[in-house]
Amino acid sequence: MKISFYPNIQPGFCSNTRVYRTEDGNPIGTYTRLFRTEFDWEKASDFMVKHFKDKEDLQFIQFASSDGSEAYTQIITLLENHDNVDKFFPIQAYDIDTEICNAAKSGLLNINITDQYKFEDRGIDFKKYFKKSDKELNIDTDTLKDSGRQSRPTETFKVSKTLTDRVKFHNESMFDILKEHKDNSNTVIMCRNVLFFFSDRQIDQFTTLAAYKLKKGSLFITGEHDQKVNLFLELKGFIRVLPNVYMKA
Ligand SMILES: C[S@@+](CC[C@H](N)C(=O)[O-])C[C@H]1O[C@@H](n2cnc3c(N)ncnc32)[C@H](O)[C@@H]1O
Repeated sequence: MKISFYPNIQPGFCSNTRVYRTEDGNPIGTYTRLFRTEFDWEKASDFMVKHFKDKEDLQFIQFASSDGSEAYTQIITLLENHDNVDKFFPIQAYDIDTEICNAAKSGLLNINITDQYKFEDRGIDFKKYFKKSDKELNIDTDTLKDSGRQSRPTETFKVSKTLTDRVKFHNESMFDILKEHKDNSNTVIMCRNVLFFFSDRQIDQFTTLAAYKLKKGSLFITGEHDQKVNLFLELKGFIRVLPNVYMKA
């Protein structure tokens, strides 16, 4: 797997800053956090709920799921703002990295204290979803806790069943899963902040496959580092319905 870009300055506030190397020795970061601020979670969820109101069954796929922060953010946003959203769950979440996938499967999450303010801002009770754990979640090569990089530390929390029951974590590559996907115009693919690690040729291949697999009306959601991916999607028959939300035309 070839990586064309590696950000050697890691973000300031994260739930992890693990970096691992692919078989070719290239580094990939697994950093993520709850309610990443560059995305409008509420607007995107409102759109999805309306857009799929007449669909009985949905396939919500999350690629590059890391430690679970993103899946939990999505679930909380749907539950706090909408009724009857069971059809979105369970989210099927995939990450190629065994270490970070095991962290997600542990039902524990390291949370930066600053992220709790995002719950307050939204009027959401943080304690409903996360409880302080006596166990510590240790992630190999995660330099976050002792790096002094963050002015506020992370602490380990136990994730509530409300969340863990609504997502299934799998240790698989998104390339393999997408190849086998069967769409019925009822798919949401969340694929945020991963493709930018890859070469243009790989981004081209992946978005071509997505365009081939997804039928009219299905959605593809990208991240703040994915401007180039967005351009590829627009060239391949997706239209932008919201910032970083693309619909197959
Ligand atoms: C920077 S994190 C992004 C996490 C999250 N999506 C977000 O935006 O906060 C990138 C993640 O992509 C995963 N990844 C890299 N290649 C992958 C692949 N082929 N299939 C699935 N996940 C992959 C990495 O292991 C890492 O956890």
